Amino acid sequence: FELLRDAANGFRIGAATNTIHYSNRNYIEAMKSFNYMVAENACKFVSIQGTKGRYNFDDCDNHLKKAQELKMDFRGHALIWHSMAPQWLEREDSNTMKQSIIDHITTVLKHYEGKIDTWDVVNEAIDDGSNGNGWKLRNSFLYQKVPNFIDIAFQTARKVSPNTKLFYNDYNTEGIWAKSESVYQFVADMKKRNIPIDGVGIQYHVGVNVQPQFDKINNLISRYCKLGVEVHITELDVSCDDNCNDRDGGEGKQSQVYINALKACLNNSCCTGFLVWGIGDSDSWRGAENKPLLFNSNYQPKGQYNAILETL
Ligand code: XIL
Repeated sequence: FELLRDAANGFRIGAATNTIHYSNRNYIEAMKSFNYMVAENACKFVSIQGTKGRYNFDDCDNHLKKAQELKMDFRGHALIWHSMAPQWLEREDSNTMKQSIIDHITTVLKHYEGKIDTWDVVNEAIDDGSNGNGWKLRNSFLYQKVPNFIDIAFQTARKVSPNTKLFYNDYNTEGIWAKSESVYQFVADMKKRNIPIDGVGIQYHVGVNVQPQFDKINNLISRYCKLGVEVHITELDVSCDDNCNDRDGGEGKQSQVYINALKACLNNSCCTGFLVWGIGDSDSWRGAENKPLLFNSNYQPKGQYNAILETL
């Protein structure tokens, strides 16, 4: 099959990968289509610092090594997140937790200095019930103990690694739900308060039945551009919902969602990265039966793949 990276002309087109699949040659062949990579889990807080103060970079390093071998750029995901955080962190008191946040960001960014140019600094911190009129922060253990953890995280990251691009990443932010508007306002407020943020990750976990329209996502991305931040589509996958039994397995409808997302990104110069969340359907966190990705469970390209290829 033709490679996406050959059609991409330097534009970063990527996928989440996982070393547990690296022994599968078909997986690697499919992976080679991309020029950008993110580790599905290996660079998260609990993966790197499962035990307090004992940093284990092995799996995150192994992802990065593979990316370098295949001449792919590598995206950092994620420094601070209420989920996939270690138990020990959750149990700490406010002052200790604040210091642990600072220490983790400092140590990880220093370890990857010069190797990873973009990190999700904070992941999923806005409450799902945010109604587009202002925003609410998620009532997580982070927020409860360190209410200003977002500011601290970004300020620490900038100080430790001034050249790293710092992203905020979240879901339900593709222009369908009210939360999209709340996240926009939240990012605008960070800019206004001079909190160092360089970009926004739109996760884009969607399905064909409630899908983002081109105009909406295009408009949203262009507003981010005007704000002076970059945008990445970070975790795109599209469930077939109840269209999975269509003659084409729902691929036609799913392709349309993929095309709209990519077109909206390519249409805005500040949208500098586009990543899908996994390689083959069988590995997807959405479940293989939802057939959400570009390759099937045998790592053969599907209709969605060709749709992306032609849109690039
Ligand atoms: C998911 C992984 O795909 C799963 O393997 C893991 O069990 C849970 O996390 N938003 C994110 C990603 O930012 O890190 C999540 O990844 C999916 C939702």
